[in-house]
Amino acid sequence: MKASKALATFPSLRGQRVFVTGGGTGIGAAIVSAFAEQGAQVAFVDVAEKESAALADSIVAQGHAPVWWRTCDVRDVAALQQAVAQAQQELGDFSTLVNNVARDDRHTLESVTPEYWDERMAVNQRPAFFAIQAVVPGMRRLGSGSVVNLGSTGWQSKGAGYPCYAVAKSSVNGLTRGLADTLGADRIRINTVSPGWVMTQRQIAMWLNAEGEADIQRNQCLPDKLQPSDVARMVLFLASDDGAMCTAQEFKVDAGWN
Ligand SMILES: NC(=O)c1ccc[n+]([C@@H]2O[C@H](COP(=O)([O-])OP(=O)(O)OC[C@H]3O[C@@H](n4cnc5c(N)ncnc54)[C@H](O)[C@@H]3O)[C@@H](O)[C@H]2O)c1
Repeated sequence: MKASKALATFPSLRGQRVFVTGGGTGIGAAIVSAFAEQGAQVAFVDVAEKESAALADSIVAQGHAPVWWRTCDVRDVAALQQAVAQAQQELGDFSTLVNNVARDDRHTLESVTPEYWDERMAVNQRPAFFAIQAVVPGMRRLGSGSVVNLGSTGWQSKGAGYPCYAVAKSSVNGLTRGLADTLGADRIRINTVSPGWVMTQRQIAMWLNAEGEADIQRNQCLPDKLQPSDVARMVLFLASDDGAMCTAQEFKVDAGWN
């Protein structure tokens, strides 16, 4: 049983503008909520309309500032960049971008066609680059910024059944490392946060069975199941002034998985 937690408030996040991709459910929703609780002005895009609307309503019901959100399929780069531009026009320049969107659909080596490959990259790889392209001019105007890219420990522990997803998620570390120097000159930081196995509703519904429970107990150093909010806490730190000198790094939130 986990002891109750007394979590940090980050004064530097109050009033900060934050853009999150795939913020309607799962870890993205926890990130959106966590920033809203810190008094930040959050914008997000997602394809899940009903869930996104419910999240936005619950944030307002808790007394936080309304979130800006739009239905947007990030496979459409023009639509993604348009959403960023529209949010920026309405709210102001973003000081934080969280590249969260992904889908860990299963597939076999034999079944993958070039079209399927491209579609997987269009969800799991391409949006992060083009979202960064869209927010960086605003961060330069602000004089600083923080980009957080959601990576994964799955490919690092040789997770099977999703080779295209593994390729895309491994490239997140390359994206972070490959842009850190360019962005750093303008005090824009870029980091990877790699979750272990996090108990989102999708993960519980699709993959958590008795074998999965045993895997968690065998592979994690800590006994508790990872929650979406555990990942959000690391993202808050990296977006805040407390993380001011962290860039180009990968931060794992995986309970010490093997
Ligand atoms: N949950 C885990 O155990 C785990 C482990 C390692 C890494 N991660 C990473 O963390 C991040 C979040 O994972 P999650 O488990 O919350 O994912 P999820 O699949 O539960 O949620 C992703 C969100 O993206 C949205 N989305 C999917 N396709 C979209 C599209 N084409 N356009 C716009 N929105 C779209 C979904 O509606 C959903 O709200 C991802 O980058 C994932 O790779 C998760």
